Amino acid sequence: MLKRTHMCGQLRESDAGSSATLCGWVNTYRDQGKGLVFIDLRDRSGLTQIVFDQEDVPDDVMEQSRGLRREDVIAVSGTIRVRDGGPNPKLDTGAIELVGTTLECLNSTENPPILPDDHDADKIDEEIRLRHRYIDLRRPRMQSILGLRSEVTRHTRNFFAEHGFLEVETPLLIRSTPEGARDFIVPSRMYPGQWYALPQSPQLFKQILMVSGCDRYLQICKCLRDEDPRADRQAEFTQIDLEMSFVDQDDVMDIMSDFAVGLFKTFKDVDLGEIPRMSYKDAMDRYGSDRPDLRFDLTMTDVSELASTTDFKVFTSAMEGSNGAVKAMRIPGGAEQLTRKMLDGYGEYAKSWRTGGLPYVKYTGNGDHGGFETGVAKFLAPVADQLVAALQLEAGDVVLFTADERTRAETAMGHVRLKVAADLDLIDPDAWAPLWVVDFPMFAWDDDAERYVSLHHPFSAPREDQVAVLESDPAHCISACYDLVINGSEVGGGSIRIHDPAVQAKVFELIGLSEEEAVEKFGFLLEALKFGAPPHGGIAFGLDRLVMLLFGTDNIRDVIAFPKTQNGADLMCEAPGPIDMSQLSDLGLRIEVETPAG
Ligand code: AMO
Ligand code: AMP
Repeated sequence: MLKRTHMCGQLRESDAGSSATLCGWVNTYRDQGKGLVFIDLRDRSGLTQIVFDQEDVPDDVMEQSRGLRREDVIAVSGTIRVRDGGPNPKLDTGAIELVGTTLECLNSTENPPILPDDHDADKIDEEIRLRHRYIDLRRPRMQSILGLRSEVTRHTRNFFAEHGFLEVETPLLIRSTPEGARDFIVPSRMYPGQWYALPQSPQLFKQILMVSGCDRYLQICKCLRDEDPRADRQAEFTQIDLEMSFVDQDDVMDIMSDFAVGLFKTFKDVDLGEIPRMSYKDAMDRYGSDRPDLRFDLTMTDVSELASTTDFKVFTSAMEGSNGAVKAMRIPGGAEQLTRKMLDGYGEYAKSWRTGGLPYVKYTGNGDHGGFETGVAKFLAPVADQLVAALQLEAGDVVLFTADERTRAETAMGHVRLKVAADLDLIDPDAWAPLWVVDFPMFAWDDDAERYVSLHHPFSAPREDQVAVLESDPAHCISACYDLVINGSEVGGGSIRIHDPAVQAKVFELIGLSEEEAVEKFGFLLEALKFGAPPHGGIAFGLDRLVMLLFGTDNIRDVIAFPKTQNGADLMCEAPGPIDMSQLSDLGLRIEVETPAG
């Protein structure tokens, strides 16, 4: 085999006159028919134009070159020269070409189902791309994502090594860890009828590493959660997972802010600046989301009091409930830009977020109903002046309303807010809007389960000044949890942990976990906490989501080499799939598949 001397993206004008051997894939092939064959040869680093000229090469090599097809794997030796036809500004190597003298076909290809230089690859059925991921990954776009991800990982390791973090691997075959999702489970052969769980995160192990005196832990690790994949969610994803001893929440947020700022400076040349903080309450109140996208200005206003004085049944009946609210969102200039059809569409969309609808009005500043027109104008006339003042309305605005139990009203409006911003093109593509969301409540009430559930996880501590509130008014107890949000994406989340067994017991009790259940589930953590646990806290960043932001894609499958489909399948290796009956009998298991009801 010819020995490679250079990569395909490497050669420049200064190399003209010397010889080189390149290896790679035939990206394009042109037979000019005048005794000239042109090939663009591709490897990870780029492309080089190769010329076979029958004046210079023996007939058999010429013949061999004419037999090549796109995506064949070849090695070519020859002499580098300044391009005959002038430089090609589109290629880094555009100043030169390699005049081939020796050609070795290292492997020929079958007819490829997709081609890596297909510029419309994103329009190709994603199933074909995933099934033949090895070809899809040859595309320059995918190669640059793989490269970026690798550099981000290296940067991460370096950053945390410089800050004294110890990299420790935690096990994959464990007992269940609660992160709110379903576990993937693995049957045990040695303990028939017993099961391992795959980690939803290394949460318990990293806390125990603090009890072990590790002080600062880092792991770039896979987490597995059996939940439905979404645009920014996979069942199998990667966390940058950290834990620190003797810290408070400012310490964790400070080091993670430095890390995030460094990443964006290095990989995007963007200065995130001082990352602001916002309470969960403000985020919900003004943006209807615990991960608000602050790249655009739309905010909502609480008009509950005003609304309850109207005769509009939707408003008044929402306010009769125990925790009702009426929220209003002003869309500046919306009267002109939002058609009836769009507004009705938002109404339907709001319903999909479990609220009754989305009443709206236009504000013209004149006319019968105190300046309001269409929709619920007639109900608003009596409170027109107050509403105009509260929302600072100007002629031409549209106002949208949600009226419901507070969280539901806010959440529905939060989703409508994002849709309006997308439709009206309010998001500046070059804007970066990071923030820390803090002061989450410890618990949320779960209607279905009829009990409190931890908003983060049950090992998160109450904020230092809130320990007494945990006893007196748990529904309003504020936790020491924090989330980093960038452009509306939850990039990371963590908390200061409970290190006092009595507080931990209280939290379990509040989420309806009996002492026996707690011991049965996390006895090992509870025991460890008794043997000299330092105060500690940590966080995990979603590596996939970070790379999505840094590269600029909203599809998580783009940033994972071998991702799963929306239905949780790996199309390339065809997982999940059946297993051998002998594997089952080793495990002492028999399959009886229940088809889901309905
Ligand atoms: P949490 O569950 O919030 O916290 O996860 C931390 C971060 O991981 C990313 N992430 C995901 N990325 C892709 N696909 C998913 N299915 C997915 N789920 C989560 C998000 C998220 O912010 N043990 C705690 C961390 C801690 O308390 O230290 C935990 O796992 O970016
Ligand atoms: P109606 O009085 O039924 O014509 O509704 C007036 C407006 O209120 C419409 O924009 C509806 O979308 C909205 N609406 C109706 N019912 C509800 C509800 N239960 N919750 C919120 N909005 C509603």
